[in-house]
Amino acid sequence: MASYDVIVIGSGPGGYVCAIRCAQLGLKTACVEGRETLGGTCLNVGCIPSKALLHATHQLHETHENFEKMGLMGAKPKVDWEKMLAYKSDVIGQNTKGIEFLFKKNKIDWLKGWGSIPEAGKVKVGDEVHDTKNIVIATGSESSTLPGVDIDEKTVVTSTGALELGKIPKKLVVIGAGVIGLEMGSVYSRLGAEVTVVEFLDHITPGMDAEVQKTFQRILKKQGMTFILGAAVQGVEALKTKAKVTYKLRKDDSEHMLDADTVLVATGRRPYTHGLGLEALGVEVTERGMVKTDAHWKTSVDGIYAIGDCIAGPMLAHKAEDEGMGVAETLAGQQGHVNYDVIPGVIYTHPEVASVGKTEEQLKDDGRAYKAGKFMFMGNGRAKANFAGDGFVKILADAETDRILGAHMIGPMVGDLIHEVCVAMEFGAAAEDLARTCHAHPTYSEAVREAALACGDGPIHS
Ligand code: FAD
Ligand code: NAI
Repeated sequence: MASYDVIVIGSGPGGYVCAIRCAQLGLKTACVEGRETLGGTCLNVGCIPSKALLHATHQLHETHENFEKMGLMGAKPKVDWEKMLAYKSDVIGQNTKGIEFLFKKNKIDWLKGWGSIPEAGKVKVGDEVHDTKNIVIATGSESSTLPGVDIDEKTVVTSTGALELGKIPKKLVVIGAGVIGLEMGSVYSRLGAEVTVVEFLDHITPGMDAEVQKTFQRILKKQGMTFILGAAVQGVEALKTKAKVTYKLRKDDSEHMLDADTVLVATGRRPYTHGLGLEALGVEVTERGMVKTDAHWKTSVDGIYAIGDCIAGPMLAHKAEDEGMGVAETLAGQQGHVNYDVIPGVIYTHPEVASVGKTEEQLKDDGRAYKAGKFMFMGNGRAKANFAGDGFVKILADAETDRILGAHMIGPMVGDLIHEVCVAMEFGAAAEDLARTCHAHPTYSEAVREAALACGDGPIHS
């Protein structure tokens, strides 16, 4: 049996990136994956398939809403749902096979099967026990459903079922106005479903900048989504092909009922460490099941590390990837590091939503004096031409030093624009640094510059 420097358990963005970086740094590496294909939640049932469906349905929306305005006449496309799902599967296949290719290229052994850790220094896969100097747990997360709600992945579904429904529902009820609920809600709304989102809190997308939350909800409402906020779901009754959702409004305790063809439960995710044998090993976990780690991703047991969705922090693919690289560098004797203050978050609806750093609400709570520079996309020539004038860019900077503390955006391509601010923040830049950087015209990125100008003497186009 081969003996390894590192065995990574799980091949999601945390695990596969970690394995590749370990191999690049000269460590003999294997990665255990129980799924049929590599890439984890993200490539198989998460980021990639959801973005494929968002892309396809956005194109549909454009042809229906905007083509005629530009003189593009002719029959409007109809949806072939099976073909759209086949496109999505093809995109998944290309990506997961890509990871397989990268594993071969970097001489990483894929140990196929579900892994467990009988003791530090050993990983068991099937009947075989492999020796290794270090173990990295990268086993990710799973949907955390509501107590008493049975998921059949047909009528009552998690995001996994929502990515391959048998048919497009007429009525979709989404429980939870978080990232999954709004992305998948957008997909089905564009496909013609009547989408009702039931959310426990009084606002959508908890933790996000309040001004973005309000604008985002207004735009989604205009696109046809209905929101029931401050509502505690009491139960979901699955009938043969339909379901009933009962909820109580928190303000007056009144009880209500909604009919649906499909119910998407999107109330968050929880760490997945089932079957690893952590308890017997003495690897400490939090009350919520997250593996406890120190600043270098080491668990409470020497030689065992953990990264990604199964540890603390935002459950995001790029956060898992960065930790994967960081722990690989640490194991290779380098200084692995992740700057948790500059991790962007993006929602891939249309318009997109993106944020990094502190929100205004957090800065107020911290008692920090700040200034906010804001620029509306209506003042951006490119956005106006492309029917994308909804939304804004807001940059928050220290009142005295002008150092950028955060940025919050809703509008076209902001999921890409946010990275300009991320780089600036990594370099400790001031808003003026962005404002004095020449931006090509006409681009959406000019809105970022204008928001930075708004932190100083003022934007030009508003
Ligand atoms: P995972 O990707 O969950 O991978 C863990 C892997 O470990 C799995 O393949 C699992 O089979 C395997 N595994 C578990 N236990 C064992 C074991 N004992 N032995 C062998 N293998 C094991 N994030 C973004 O940043 N952007 C997005 O656009 C985005 N979209 C999403 C859309 C949806 C619908 C969902 C559900 C999630 C989305 N996410 C997105 C979140 C993202 O998918 C996760 O943050 C990311 O996948 C976490 O990576 P990970 O490596 O920690 O774990
Ligand atoms: P989430 O945490 O984003 O949202 C869950 C929502 O459900 C919250 O608004 C919460 O208040 C609400 N909720 C919880 N219990 C409820 C109840 N009983 N009744 C009504 N509402 C209730 O979780 P979500 O959307 O399931 O996503 C899980 C994870 O996947 C997130 O951490 C997210 O980061 C990640 N993800 C990231 C994406 C991206 O980066 N674009 C896309 C999709 C998922």
